[in-house]
Amino acid sequence: MGDVDRYLESNRSLWDEWAELHARSDWYDLDSVRRGVDKLRPYEVDEVGDVSGLTMLHLQCQIGADSVSWARRGAKVTGVDFSSRAVGIANALAKELGVDATFVCSDVMRLPETLAGTWDVVYTSRGVLGWLPDLAGWARIIEAYLNPGGFVYLTDIHPIAKTLDDTSVELRVSRPYWPRPAPVTYRVEGSYADPNAKIESSVKYLWTHSTGEIITAMAQAGLIIEFFHEFSWLDRPWPFLRQRSGREFVLPDDIEAELPLFFSLRARKK
Ligand SMILES: C[S@@+](CC[C@H](N)C(=O)[O-])C[C@H]1O[C@@H](n2cnc3c(N)ncnc32)[C@H](O)[C@@H]1O
Repeated sequence: MGDVDRYLESNRSLWDEWAELHARSDWYDLDSVRRGVDKLRPYEVDEVGDVSGLTMLHLQCQIGADSVSWARRGAKVTGVDFSSRAVGIANALAKELGVDATFVCSDVMRLPETLAGTWDVVYTSRGVLGWLPDLAGWARIIEAYLNPGGFVYLTDIHPIAKTLDDTSVELRVSRPYWPRPAPVTYRVEGSYADPNAKIESSVKYLWTHSTGEIITAMAQAGLIIEFFHEFSWLDRPWPFLRQRSGREFVLPDDIEAELPLFFSLRARKK
């Protein structure tokens, strides 16, 4: 096993633990999904547009909360995640709710070994890029899975926000911005969905990706970038942010600085 495989394997066992924790968490609140609550955010529903009758490949879908919401909006969804526990939870949820969503357990980077076909939409969201070692290869895989005229929609934490110290009560730049071959090691306690939970895993390995790297990966895979939107809010309650509304946390009012904290991108195949 090479170094990258070892990092991925460690991340995968962390996600197996987190998936079970998240399925019971208030953060994901799967009971609300069972009651019919849509977990998608209004901005992404607007930016993706009407999906009824479209096929959707949902990469890094975790426990399927967002996949189920897209299926309820009329998409025929195929979810992918490398955590077998996440995929088990997602499959059971979709079956229980009778929605058109099926799930495949695979590393995104090795997906072509197990999944054939093409889709109208590739969707991937909120906390996905840092787990991936190779964005150029990832974008080529996405391009190959798209139907002509289809598009990829990505929304995630902005690379600028990832340079900030998410443990500090003050705004502090403390993390790398530029891509590098090796991941950065972070200590893990609990999870973002339940910081006080007890888990066995103690580290996560995250790769750094810059804004330019994301856009260039898409463009060099042959995809036409339709927009790259930047948002002033983050969907995580980092200590130096103030809550503006339910899942929107912004810089405090008493500083003049402005920073992008989240982004969305849509790119289309010719
Ligand atoms: C933050 S979650 C996904 C976000 C999703 N929108 C959510 O909030 O449920 C990240 C997901 O990526 C998955 N993941 C991480 N690295 C992966 C890889 N190399 N291949 C496939 N899935 C991966 C994890 O198992 C996890 O379910």
